[in-house]
Amino acid sequence: MSETDPHKAMPDFSVRGQHAVITGGSGGIGGAFARAFVAHGATVTITDLVEPSAPLPAGIDYLKLDVRDDAAVAAAAAAVPRCDVLIHCAGRLQRFEEHKVDTFKDVLDIHLVGALRLANAFRDKLKARPGCIINIGSMYSYFGAAMIPAYASAKTAIIGLTRSQALAYAEDGIRVNAIAPGWINTPISRRGREEAAFNAKVMARLPTGRWSEPEELAGTALFLASPASALINGVTIPVDGGYVAS
Ligand SMILES: NC(=O)c1ccc[n+]([C@@H]2O[C@H](COP(=O)([O-])OP(=O)(O)OC[C@H]3O[C@@H](n4cnc5c(N)ncnc54)[C@H](O)[C@@H]3O)[C@@H](O)[C@H]2O)c1
Repeated sequence: MSETDPHKAMPDFSVRGQHAVITGGSGGIGGAFARAFVAHGATVTITDLVEPSAPLPAGIDYLKLDVRDDAAVAAAAAAVPRCDVLIHCAGRLQRFEEHKVDTFKDVLDIHLVGALRLANAFRDKLKARPGCIINIGSMYSYFGAAMIPAYASAKTAIIGLTRSQALAYAEDGIRVNAIAPGWINTPISRRGREEAAFNAKVMARLPTGRWSEPEELAGTALFLASPASALINGVTIPVDGGYVAS
């Protein structure tokens, strides 16, 4: 090995100059990721069903996109000039409705099939750097949920999809990992926070004893997109204040 062997270089935590595409970017976690990537020298395209509620800072642009729509996802991939990081944050859950077949399919389509659809569409762009994919799991990647079976099924399957995509995409040098967020203060989790019994059950198991802010996940996304994590592939990382461990 020579002195200049890149595998022996000091770790590089930078995402400067990268372009990230973040679905669900008008939401809490996607929005926080977009701001963090821009703060660290990247540019970002956020996509969502709805426009962001606040004006976007320089370096972030918005593209309307329903992640259930094959043609629209393909068109979005063709429209962005580059994609070095693809993060699939779009999501919804339908409490009490997800035992119905149509609702079950719809929730799976957004979270799980959406992850596959997006990766397929953006693969050629990701190949150029080569870049990486970050899927989003959940605490429900690890246990069931009587009220939201589709959400829990999709999030459990994200672990398997992430492993499988990592193996399939390795030939292109594209890494695929996932983040499993804990209990985060965003619109999707509002009803859980507001229900006293549910909230008390979560807090009793949670070592940090508090709901977290979406910005607290961003360091892990930046790390997974940086050269410093070049050896990490196919894993789902809980970022949960110790919930899974307890
Ligand atoms: N907040 C939490 O506690 C928590 C915990 C674990 C995992 N997650 C996951 O994190 C991801 C981001 O969630 P969040 O907390 O930011 O929620 P959020 O509700 O703030 O954002 C979700 C965004 O997804 C968008 N969206 C929904 N359906 C879409 C579709 N068909 N096409 C395009 N966009 C669509 C919504 O418009 C919204 O802006 C989701 O996958 C969610 O399941 C959240």
